[in-house]
Formats: sequence, structure tokens, C-alpha cells
Amino acid sequence: MVETDTLLMSSAKIIYNNTSESILQLPIQETLNYFKSSGVLLFRGFGVDYERMKTFAENFSSKFVLDKDRPIVDPHNKYVTLVDPGMHYVSPHCENANSPFRPDVIWFCCGVPAAQGGETLFWDGVKVWQEMSVELKKLFIAQKIKFYQKFPAADWKRFLGIGATLADVQRTLNGIPGLSYKINEDQSISIEYICSAVVKTKYANQDAFANSLIAEYKNPRGVVTFADGSPIPATAINQIQHVMNNLTEVINWQSGDLVMIDNSRFLHGRRSFTDRNRRIYSLLSYMK
Ligand SMILES: [Fe+2]
Repeated sequence: MVETDTLLMSSAKIIYNNTSESILQLPIQETLNYFKSSGVLLFRGFGVDYERMKTFAENFSSKFVLDKDRPIVDPHNKYVTLVDPGMHYVSPHCENANSPFRPDVIWFCCGVPAAQGGETLFWDGVKVWQEMSVELKKLFIAQKIKFYQKFPAADWKRFLGIGATLADVQRTLNGIPGLSYKINEDQSISIEYICSAVVKTKYANQDAFANSLIAEYKNPRGVVTFADGSPIPATAINQIQHVMNNLTEVINWQSGDLVMIDNSRFLHGRRSFTDRNRRIYSLLSYMK
């Protein structure tokens, strides 16, 4: 039997290791059931390193995806990366939700926590949606949002694999609902992706405000508008942030922690930090 607990005021579940067993000995189906109902699992006391994280994740994953701009940590584990570079605050987002290549789950493990700050933050998109005002909900039901991104050739080659050609790009991008793209003269690719800000969760089919709107709005290089190209009012962004500020949940990292987050339901971010020794690793995958 797996021993669990819930984080205060949270649907997230902590799975403790009280029997000194390896994380690889946890019952897979039971763990999966917890993941489906909770959406965030924190495994504590298993001493997980990034190799273990990948091995454990293989039990649940059909496919791993490579993040386009994070440093790979080990040539033998090419899907494991360090988290977003820099030490700054990271605004709430779902991983790669500004594109049609949104993975089902994001995995994090902690090598070294920051001496101060650097906590991973998360928000339940179902609760965010429930707490939003009727007017705000109406706005995002009535209008989809549109993300613009530009990928230099080096980026899409990394994403699609070494040796990928423009024909591979076309094969990958053609026919995806909501996506339009343009191949530029320098072989960079510009994409526009239109999607709803409110999505159905993978496991309970609930409405969730789970997207990358805030992060892209705040990102100086990000561009996000309503689907018709009209700007998203700052007042709406402020109202969403106000709702989210009351729903922020925190992972206070300990070395060896592993976290598994349902990317169809939860947004995540992080607090800023100054400790150069902080090491948090991440992995993205689709579930079996
Ligand atoms: Fe992220």
C-alpha cells in the first residue's frame, strides 16, 4: 500500500517513502490512479536523480519530447533537461501550451534546492476557472486566443531531430487544427496557434483555465492576442492574476524529490532565486 498525504489546501498528493524502497517498486496502477485524481504527485524520500526520474517515467509514458531551448544534462539521457535558464520569477503557464505540442505531463526532480527561493509554484486550472468572474469567463468562452512564435532553423531541427528537413516540417505541421505557419526565407518558421484558453482536463473532462496566456503576455518576446488579432485587455490579465494569486501552491524542494504534474489541468511557474547551485531537472512526456 502506498502511503500518501495531501499538501495543505491542495489537491496535490505527497507519496512518502517509509519503507526504504526504490521508487521503481511503487505499484504502477495505484500510482497512476493517484495521478489521475490529484493531478500533482510529489514523491519524497526516494532519493530520485534524473536517471531514476526517466526510468520511472517510462512506466507511464508513451513518448518523451525534447524541450526546444533547455540545456540537456547528459548525452545518454537526451530528454532530461535543466529547467528554464536564469534565476528569475517564471509566470504561470502550461508547458508548451502556446503550441499544439503540449505534453500530457511534466516531470521535475530536485538535485539541489536553492538555499532560498526557487520554489516551483503551481495552480489548479479547474479552480482558477471556477473562481473567475462570470464576465471573465464569458470573454474567454466567446473568444479564443492566438499565440505567435518564430522558430529559427536550429530550433525546429532540434525539436524534429537532427537531419530534419522542411518537408518534415510540413508533414508535422500540416492539418493541425488551429495552426497556421509560414516558412521564411532564412528557413525559420513562423507559427500562429489559435486555441481556447479554457480546456478540458485529460482525466475528468472538467473545464480548466490551463494555458500559457499569462506567461506569454508577460514575456517581452511573447505575442498573444485574441483570435481576431485584437489585444487582450490588461484589466482581464490583472483579474486573472488576482484570482490566481489566491490559489498559488508551492513545492518546497528537498533533494531527491520527484514531482509529476498533469499539464492538461495544472499551470506551473517558479519563484526567483540567487543560489547558483540550484539544480532542478525536467522531462516532458505523453502518457500511455
Ligand atoms: Fe515550464
